[in-house]
Amino acid sequence: MVSRDERNAGEKIETKTPGNRRDFFNEIAGCALAIAGIGAAVVTVEYSSPNVLFEPPTTFRAGSLDDYPVDSVTFIQDQQVYIVRTEKGLWAMSAVCTHLGCITQWKPESNQIACPCHGSKFQRDGTVQAGPAPRPLPRFAARLAADGALVVDKLETVKETEILKV
Ligand code: FES
Repeated sequence: MVSRDERNAGEKIETKTPGNRRDFFNEIAGCALAIAGIGAAVVTVEYSSPNVLFEPPTTFRAGSLDDYPVDSVTFIQDQQVYIVRTEKGLWAMSAVCTHLGCITQWKPESNQIACPCHGSKFQRDGTVQAGPAPRPLPRFAARLAADGALVVDKLETVKETEILKV
């Protein structure tokens, strides 16, 4: 025999179980909606913020002429640029190898610029002495500012024969 209390308790359990399951699924749905809402908010914020790539300026001041004695090749490491000065004048030249983009090195003992990656060699004027580099090292526009500083613009390439007469 089942007592009345036991029957009532059983009824409570029966009536309560579907409610718990419904609450559980409601909570799951609420969590899913909250996660979807947060995701949508993140995507919206990323979309509305400017997608800008900050790069260093292409124009830089390279000191004064006194920093570059006649018959010298000076490597400016942070700009990856050579400043070459001869008795005819001065020019700024990229130090990036025209083969696959390795950074070249000035070798004063052999009077040439050498690429450590695949062995290309360049003369101090940038012309290719030995491949596989397909092109000479490009020259950049160089000028003297009003205060006498040398200013190089890496965005503007000039002819391989262009020299800043100083
Ligand atoms: S990257 Fe300079 S020779 Fe290949």
